[in-house]
Amino acid sequence: MKAVVPAAGLGTRFLPATKVVPKELLPLLDVPAVQVVVDEALAAGFDEVVLVVSPQKEAILRHFQPAPELCDELRARGRAELAERVAATSRPVTAVVQARPLGLGHAVGCARHAVGDEPFAVLLPDDLFLGDVPAIAQLAEAHRRSGASVLGLLEVTAAEVSRYGIVRAEAEAEGAPLRIRDLVEKPAPADAPSRLAIVGRYLLEPSVFERIERTPPGWGGEIQLTDALRGLAAEGGLVGVPLRSTRLDTGEPMGLLEAAILRALAHPAYGPRLREFLAALPRR
Ligand code: UTP
Repeated sequence: MKAVVPAAGLGTRFLPATKVVPKELLPLLDVPAVQVVVDEALAAGFDEVVLVVSPQKEAILRHFQPAPELCDELRARGRAELAERVAATSRPVTAVVQARPLGLGHAVGCARHAVGDEPFAVLLPDDLFLGDVPAIAQLAEAHRRSGASVLGLLEVTAAEVSRYGIVRAEAEAEGAPLRIRDLVEKPAPADAPSRLAIVGRYLLEPSVFERIERTPPGWGGEIQLTDALRGLAAEGGLVGVPLRSTRLDTGEPMGLLEAAILRALAHPAYGPRLREFLAALPRR
C-alpha cells in the first residue's frame, strides 16, 4: 500500500524561515520533520511514499535520494560513521507536483495516478505522533477491521475546536472504531458537534478521489479534504480512531521547538547538555 505525504503548502507560519527552505525540511535537532513522518509510514508497512510537492520544494525529494559524492567526501575525511548516517536517509519515495497550493484536498487529488485504485494512507508532515505503535498503523488496523475509510482523531479543548475539522461520531461497539456521521470545518465552540478533532492521519478508500474532483473550493477558498470526506460520512463509509499517541503540531514554530526539545532530551549527548542549559537559565 502507498502512503501520500502532502508537502506543497506555503508554510506561512514559519515565514521568513520558509522563504527558501521548505517547512518540511526544518530540523528536529538533526533530522528534518518530514523524515520522521516518512519513517512512520515505512515502519507501519507501507512500501512506497508519494510526496506531493510544489515546484519550489523539490529539495524535499532530494533529501531522500542517495548522495554518493557527499558520502565519498565524508569517508575521504575519515567520517565513515557520518557517511553511513547520510546514506541511510535514502527512502522509497516518489514525488508528484501540485503546481499551486489550492488546498489539502487538491494536494491529495494530485496523487491519484501515483496511488492507483487501492486504499492509501495520508500523513500530514506537520503532525508528529510519538508512541509505541505508529499512529498510521492504528488506522491501518481499523481499516482492516471495518473496510471503511478511517480518520485519526484527537480530543481537543472547547477553545481549540475552531482550529480543526470536528466530527459528529457514534460509538457502535465496545473497542470498535467510531462511526462518523458528519464533519464540520473549524466550527465556533457553540456549533461544534463534539470535541473530537481530525488530525493529520487518514487511511482512505480510492473512491475519495472522485469526490475530491467534485469538491468546490470551501473554507479559505481552498479545496478541503474535509469537504470531500463529508459525502463518505453521509454514506456510512467513514470511521474514526482516537489516537493513542502524543501529538505535536510541528506546523507552527512553538510545536517544532517542543518536538526538537523532546528529541534533544532523549538524545544521549544532547540530553544532559540541554538539562544543564535549562537549569542555568535565570528565573524571572
Ligand atoms: P497546512 O495548512 O498546515 O500547511 O497544511 P501550510 O499551508 O504549508 O502552512 P501555513 O498554514 O501556511 O503555515 C497541512 C499540510 O498540507 C500541505 C502542507 O504542505 C502541509 O503539510 N498542503 C496544504 C499541500 O500540500 N497543498 C496545499 O495546497 C495545502
